[in-house]
Amino acid sequence: MLNFSLFRRKPKLEYEKDIASPNGRVVCHVILGAGQLTYAVLKDGKILVRDSHIGLELYGEKPLKYGLTLVRAHEKMIDETWETVWGEDHVIRNNYHEVALYLSEEMEDRRLFTLRVRVFDEGVAFRYEVPPQPKFRRLIIADELTEFNVDLNGYAWQIPAYQPDRYEYNYERWPVYNLTSSVHTPLTIQTPIGPYISIHEAALYNYGAMTLKLNEKRALKSDITPLSDGMRAYVDLPFSTPWRMIMIADSPLDLVSNRMMLNLNDPPRDDFSWVKPIKFMGIWWAMYVGEWTWAPSDRHGASTAHAKEYIDACNRLGIEGLLIEGWNEGWEGDWLQNGAHSDFLKPAKDFNLVEVARYADSKNVKLVGHHETVGFVDNYEKQIQRAYDYYSENNIHYIKPGYAGSMMTIQNRREYHHSQVGVNHYQKTIELAAQHHTMLNIHEPIKGTGIERTWPNLLTREGARGQEYEGGALSPSHACILPFTRLLSGGMDYTSGIFDVTNVSKRIASTLARQLAYYVTIPSGMQMAADRPRFYEEEHPDAFKFIQDVPVNWERTVPLLGEIGVFYVVARQGRGEPNWYIGGVTNEDGHRVRVNLDFLDHGDYMAEIYHDSDDAHYRDNQLGIIIETRKVAATDYLDLWMAPGGGFAVRLVKL
Ligand code: NOJ
Repeated sequence: MLNFSLFRRKPKLEYEKDIASPNGRVVCHVILGAGQLTYAVLKDGKILVRDSHIGLELYGEKPLKYGLTLVRAHEKMIDETWETVWGEDHVIRNNYHEVALYLSEEMEDRRLFTLRVRVFDEGVAFRYEVPPQPKFRRLIIADELTEFNVDLNGYAWQIPAYQPDRYEYNYERWPVYNLTSSVHTPLTIQTPIGPYISIHEAALYNYGAMTLKLNEKRALKSDITPLSDGMRAYVDLPFSTPWRMIMIADSPLDLVSNRMMLNLNDPPRDDFSWVKPIKFMGIWWAMYVGEWTWAPSDRHGASTAHAKEYIDACNRLGIEGLLIEGWNEGWEGDWLQNGAHSDFLKPAKDFNLVEVARYADSKNVKLVGHHETVGFVDNYEKQIQRAYDYYSENNIHYIKPGYAGSMMTIQNRREYHHSQVGVNHYQKTIELAAQHHTMLNIHEPIKGTGIERTWPNLLTREGARGQEYEGGALSPSHACILPFTRLLSGGMDYTSGIFDVTNVSKRIASTLARQLAYYVTIPSGMQMAADRPRFYEEEHPDAFKFIQDVPVNWERTVPLLGEIGVFYVVARQGRGEPNWYIGGVTNEDGHRVRVNLDFLDHGDYMAEIYHDSDDAHYRDNQLGIIIETRKVAATDYLDLWMAPGGGFAVRLVKL
């Protein structure tokens, strides 16, 4: 029988290019054939992402995907370093090979479209850019057609998207072939051929956040969070999508030091030297354990008297800031339902904001204000300008906005937090805060995409399960997964430092030593000492010394040991100081580690070590802690036992 395929015309291959990373080990292979663009990603010659399609589906118009022809390609190499205002590393290297493909449709409208690709030694990033052009001023994006055609037999640590608790779920390790419903990014995958990858995005502005889901071809595909009308975004030209990123690493630890996301964001346009990361306490955990209430009552937490007591405690303990929740009108009754009526200018009857703010000033304590919007953005936006002015007038320059609730109400519609209008609301808040020289700790936020490089006043965010889920819904493995998943997208307010670990109303699945480890394993521009002062001053002043000593801002970060979900050990040098700090956490099984101190400079250090006792256990001996000091140098090791649900913290003071 005649084989007709022999007579078929081969598709026209118009352009083909291997874009190699500076060290040549990572390659993005781009092909323009038969009018369509595809890309593939290789590391050391092995395919990590097979030929994957790209493009945009537009409402009321043909998709931007077919009939493309290359107008011009532009190539450049960048190798530069820059300094962070604050963060995990003071100096960051930005080194990549960029190719921009300027494309046009061959027929009819001849619409223009650019694919910009950057290949780093640590991975590949690309974005779509649509320049201004005669016939198009505005685009309605109905779908983004980006595929990430990874091996289906890899394993992914996933949390589901479009669920009522946003990003606050326990990570589960699933084969990629099971990802038939949308999952959030960063999506970290152990590939069957060895390397680890994490798919995420950088510089998310004016667009829905990217989730991922297998398509009919069984390729992971971008599923951009839709608006309530089903569209993904309404944009004016010129327009660029966020960067689509595939971080690549030989080991999970190398993912932790990947700085592509920050590199793909722009430097700040203004002076942010006023931004100051801090530690803070809170009129907060007392509510979680039922001692006090958010709403006015005879046990109201945010009374003037309690605020002054806590300000005094911050001053005595050397903790710079104090969060006060439940201070305003809106908490009465069912606060989750009543959020449409919250008032961010009216304090509760027993709380005098002006008096408390003056008192805080006199004690040199910075107040952290609180705006719980419950997702009622319409109500918040009506007051937001005056609410920020009000805090500023009272010298309050840290704010924790919150968006509890499964959806947002924006322009009278129910929208996802991570939809385009949600993203734009958060951005408006960040910019308004910057105008007021105000720093933010956003709870129920949109996920991090590195915009804190451009907006360093965005000091931290929640955006994952934190310790408020203790008391049953957090297992010790969670904090051993976060560094390799959620924390790749930036710092987190995990509300660490709960010392009352045995409280029957909210028992913590952690040893006491592990609570200290979090200050090093979970970076955050604002670190909370989340428990009540008496647990620091009266119950465990010796352990609290570590929280007093540990910095919030780092010179350098060196991930040391780890296995996703099992254990994690990281060392960081305090910014502007010679001292180092190490944190280690493990899962429910316990783990022994040998920590090589060869990252230290020459000379001796005094190691102050806070570790689990041999019989410590997160279930029945949480307080088994040993605190000891020892002289060490770069040639030494520390052999440390992390109990089930345990961990350790070390301060290395240069002698
Ligand atoms: C949820 C936040 O995560 C928590 O920190 C806050 O206290 C409550 N919402 C109330 O605003």
